[in-house]
Amino acid sequence: MANTVKIRVPGTTANCGPGFDAVGIACTIYNDLELTLSDQGGISLEVAGEGAGAIPADASNVVVKAIQMVLTKTGYPANGIKLNMVNNIPLARGLGSSAAAIVGGLVAANELTGNRLTKEEILDMATAIEGHPDNVAPAIFGGITVSIMDSGTAKYLRFLPPKNFSMVAVIPEFNLSTKAARKVLPDSVPFADAVFNVSRTALLIGALCTGELKLLLHALEDRLHQPYREQLIPGMAQVLAAARQAGALGAALSGAGPCLLAFTADNSDEIGQAMVKAFNIHKVDARYQLLQIDTQGAIIV
Ligand code: HSE
Repeated sequence: MANTVKIRVPGTTANCGPGFDAVGIACTIYNDLELTLSDQGGISLEVAGEGAGAIPADASNVVVKAIQMVLTKTGYPANGIKLNMVNNIPLARGLGSSAAAIVGGLVAANELTGNRLTKEEILDMATAIEGHPDNVAPAIFGGITVSIMDSGTAKYLRFLPPKNFSMVAVIPEFNLSTKAARKVLPDSVPFADAVFNVSRTALLIGALCTGELKLLLHALEDRLHQPYREQLIPGMAQVLAAARQAGALGAALSGAGPCLLAFTADNSDEIGQAMVKAFNIHKVDARYQLLQIDTQGAIIV
């Protein structure tokens, strides 16, 4: 017995400024994963592209964990896992590589075990592994998502904006784990900062839903996480300022960083170049990548 499936999962940008742990956007950068389940026992893993040589090929691997979660939940009698991955999403940079790995594992295993899990169940399982729903929700559903947790269950809204925009991801040449980027966050924040973020998050979702994209300049402002994370990313404030000066609609930290993301209507290349230059001034090598919104989420290919 052996059966195989191929899955494509998008990268994601989370938070989008003020929407900490809630807002996410699926992006046109992808990881491909081929899973074969069998009764031959053992785990084998081949990785090409991002993470090749660095991703563990055993039960500690997050894709394997996700697959085993589905096998346990569905009682499917397979103990052999063979994975072939081609990764384009850079690791530990704030573009949702771990969410893509988790969602890829869950969706692939679900497909091979008879599609017994709904997308909502997959969202809950993915959130349980990842710890927060903001990257895994758009990786599953595509588009823009707003997610909340209610007693361990994720509730979400998924939508596409009426007016198109592009994104410029500036990817510095260093990793930052989400764990390290969450460690610098405070246990509590001033009431005024909470009010600041509530108003910006409401404006952000309103702006994205209505296409009033000029509001993004203020709607991407944040006081819950970005000010604390600046110390981990040399030149962060200056790179975000360079994006705005070069004509971006707005700019923010992508997820937990260290990628920085500009929302753009035009001149995306000039904005990317200005951001890379600002990083370089702070002795950080970086490259930029133009992204659009992925509308499909994880798909079988
Ligand atoms: N909301 C998460 C954070 C995204 O900012 O820590 C990264 O996984």
